[in-house]
Amino acid sequence: MAIRTPSSLAARRRLQYRNHRYLTGRNTIITLSINGTSYAVEVDPTTPLLWVIRDSVGLTGTKFGCGIARCGACTVHLNGSPIRSCVTPASAAVGQQITTIEGVNNGRPGLHPVQQAWIDEQVPQCGYCQSGQIMSAAALLERNSTPSDADIDLAMAGNICRCGAYPRIRKGIKRAAGAINALRDQAQADG
Ligand code: FES
Ligand code: FES
Repeated sequence: MAIRTPSSLAARRRLQYRNHRYLTGRNTIITLSINGTSYAVEVDPTTPLLWVIRDSVGLTGTKFGCGIARCGACTVHLNGSPIRSCVTPASAAVGQQITTIEGVNNGRPGLHPVQQAWIDEQVPQCGYCQSGQIMSAAALLERNSTPSDADIDLAMAGNICRCGAYPRIRKGIKRAAGAINALRDQAQADG
């Protein structure tokens, strides 16, 4: 029988996952705070956070793309900053606040302004990359609510969209920025 050898690091990561090679017998219980909820999970602490979020906790909105920090599909927030969960060991997230696409609106009712803008601008095509895109966009607008085109390009450079939805992603970010600033103005006016 022919044995297939993965030809790239990404392919090796996919094979590693499929074969559950992260179940190494060094499992221990760690506690992770995800979207404001604590989860005690039994894993090898070196397991990439992505697999713990998806397989141990069951939050499958975060996607696997490349497995080598090149595509951004697996983006989550660690203490508010975007990280690539496919290359972040679960142990590095212990004691930190993890936010996934399921909790991007931080417990507030309804959609995050970025999610609403994505709907309004019909940003996604196949949709596979979009939870990562939204997480990066939300982190950008958290630190800069009036981003220029250059700011957007820089912040989103690590998020690949194979459908080429980049012009709509940029429009969506600008629309979300407008909504965030309008909400802030309204809150200030209301005192
Ligand atoms: S799956 Fe993590 S960057 Fe591609
Ligand atoms: S919408 Fe298809 S990969 Fe981005």
